Amino acid sequence: MANENLSKAKNAKNDEFYTQYIDIQKEINAYLEYDPNVFRGKTILLPCDDPEWSNFTKFFAQNFENFGLKKLISTSYARSEKRRKYQVEEYHQMSLFEMDAPQYDEELSDSRGRIFTLTRDRDNSGRIDIDDLEWQYLDGDGDFQSDEVKALRHEADIIVTNPPFSQYIEFIRWLYEEEKKFLIIGNKSSITIKEIFPLIMNNRMWSGATSWSGGLWFQIPAPPESNRTGASYQMINGLWYKNVSSTWFTNIEHGRRHQPLSLMTQQDNIRFSSHKDVNGIGYLPYDNYAAIEVPFADAIPSDYDGIMGVPVTFLEKYCPEQFVILGITLGNTVDYEMTKVYRNAIQHNKDGTTQGGSKVNTRAAICVKEKPTGTVYYTADNADGYLLSIYPRILIRRRHS
Ligand SMILES: C[S@@+](CC[C@H](N)C(=O)[O-])C[C@H]1O[C@@H](n2cnc3c(N)ncnc32)[C@H](O)[C@@H]1O
Repeated sequence: MANENLSKAKNAKNDEFYTQYIDIQKEINAYLEYDPNVFRGKTILLPCDDPEWSNFTKFFAQNFENFGLKKLISTSYARSEKRRKYQVEEYHQMSLFEMDAPQYDEELSDSRGRIFTLTRDRDNSGRIDIDDLEWQYLDGDGDFQSDEVKALRHEADIIVTNPPFSQYIEFIRWLYEEEKKFLIIGNKSSITIKEIFPLIMNNRMWSGATSWSGGLWFQIPAPPESNRTGASYQMINGLWYKNVSSTWFTNIEHGRRHQPLSLMTQQDNIRFSSHKDVNGIGYLPYDNYAAIEVPFADAIPSDYDGIMGVPVTFLEKYCPEQFVILGITLGNTVDYEMTKVYRNAIQHNKDGTTQGGSKVNTRAAICVKEKPTGTVYYTADNADGYLLSIYPRILIRRRHS
């Protein structure tokens, strides 16, 4: 990617996060390992891209023949729209590649999206590769929701991109309007969104193969001075990178998804677990869901037949042959009933102040007899003790082979 990073990203909703080549390569390799023909004869659409700069376009164009692709299509969003939406100067300078092309038009270059396609050995080099990409202006601005880009979606077999974070839910809806195969990047926390969790629960969408730990580093426009010091920013060779708590989501099969977690029994976890919340203690039941709390995915007991609440990061390791997902502890959303709703709940803050405690009814709660210290807790008319509210948990049960 070129390094003409001119922008001052003033707007918090800036979506200009560019995916690194190595991250794309690592993730795609997992699908090829599982099925070497996964892309053979397929048309791939890369929407919300910036074809000239994007590593997605570069990666698939370079591997066009290796993967046996039928067609590669990549579309970009109009510069004028980016400026209007994000109120920032442009990240990428207009390139000589565009300006030297016979179809270059100064006005269209600003107001229209562009489409790059690759299908044939245009330069007769004996190979179909990145030099054979053809481009033209779209009729519209390249919005993924435009009829023009929807027609490309219809033509495609597989859609791959890092969509704009600010329109993530709209993008997911857009994908499922035609239920295409896809591989996209999204925030890890997005799985708790009401529209998205049912897709995960019903095995219509799952985690990609790359480990969730550490998030992903994206190339970004130069951040404002005040943001540059945090650990989530890095400058390497004059280019800025930001770490985002995001990962890959897909509905394409890969091998990691079918590797069961290797787990210990309840008794062995109590004796040997490296987690102090489990070792010598075991598993506490929730007071408002018919399930036990399992605070770490690697502490899931192999021999427990009931329902277990596990952290959302479990999804990175979820193997559908090993577990079934039943719901999420976010109140009564996603069809999973709470067994109790607390009346007149009060939240007790660490500093001794109190406030309304309705939040306790939106999560799983553990009831303890001893008054907690140094942490937020809740009381309620119909609670038999003090309530500790637990982060959203995914409710799972083991499958019997
Ligand atoms: C997160 S960036 C990813 C860019 C590229 N796919 C990559 O990963 O390197 C999302 C891109 O989508 C563009 N975008 C924003 N809104 C869009 C829309 N409605 N339709 C199409 N693209 C859009 C942004 O300007 C941005 O360039």
